[in-house]
Amino acid sequence: MSLNKLSSQYNQRLTALLEQLFPDVGVDKQLHSLPNAVRYASLSGGKRLRPLLVYAAGEALGVNATVLDQPALAVELIHCYSLVHDDLPSMDDDDLRRGQATVHRAFDEATAILAGDLLQAQAFNLLANQTGVAASCINESMQIVSKAALDMVKGQSLDLAFENHSPNQAELEQMLQLKTGALIRASVLIPTAYVEQLPAAHCQALADFAESIGLAFQIRDDVLDITGDTEVLGKPQGSDAGLNKAAWPSQFGVEAANVRVGQLYERAIVALEHFGESADFLRFLAERMIKRSY
Ligand code: IPE
Ligand code: IPE
Ligand code: MG
Ligand code: MG
Ligand code: MG
Repeated sequence: MSLNKLSSQYNQRLTALLEQLFPDVGVDKQLHSLPNAVRYASLSGGKRLRPLLVYAAGEALGVNATVLDQPALAVELIHCYSLVHDDLPSMDDDDLRRGQATVHRAFDEATAILAGDLLQAQAFNLLANQTGVAASCINESMQIVSKAALDMVKGQSLDLAFENHSPNQAELEQMLQLKTGALIRASVLIPTAYVEQLPAAHCQALADFAESIGLAFQIRDDVLDITGDTEVLGKPQGSDAGLNKAAWPSQFGVEAANVRVGQLYERAIVALEHFGESADFLRFLAERMIKRSY
């Protein structure tokens, strides 16, 4: 099966799981804004790269996809929550996401805050209620995801603190690793929670892969904020510049940013040398993450 096909199959699987989790109850949009906003935030688009990384790392380690459904959903829900809050007026103040009005625009600010809160709580509830796996796996998966959720928030706080500041490259990259890299790293490492006696070298190889590709992904995002097109991006081009964000290309130039993305991608691919064909889906996603135009 082609990797494109595999990717769309997993995507359909995620849509079905999300539909099950947040069914359309056809309730009045005004009176019952929260369930509608939650569906709006999680079921209308998105590349779903993080849950796809969960399944792809699972393929590399031979972990059954069924075992990974709940953690895959969990990382996507945390990601969706982070976007809803990231777009709020007090944060990036953006009106467009995934080609449609941001949640606080389509509903209202209080509903957007609560929808984000719900998505995060739901993610941990799914992890806590996993069935058919050992308690130690549940514990380990919760450790991995909760650490990433914490780091993401710390990174978002640094992102705001760096507005109108010029951090050096190490400081800037540390912020990018926290706000974006951490959840990508967790996505890749989740399957390790379900493998008994995984060789440390395998775990390290996956961590090295994820750290490189996670950073490359956010630098690519920052480049697209400058060179992309709002229509294609589905979110406002120039948002970072408007807020004086400390972003890789604005600090060091678009050309240097592209070189850095290329370096990090190479490093990510080298880290996977450890694995044979079983890591082809991870390789495919890595390429998609840095060559993307939205
Ligand atoms: C956007 O992430 C936020 C960043 C961390 C750069 P994605 O580009 O993965 O967003 P969706 O889920 O596809 O909309
Ligand atoms: C977002 O970074 C990182 C998150 C943790 C949500 P950005 O602020 O650059 O993401 P976009 O460009 O709004 O998607
Ligand atoms: Mg932001
Ligand atoms: Mg933003
Ligand atoms: Mg951005």
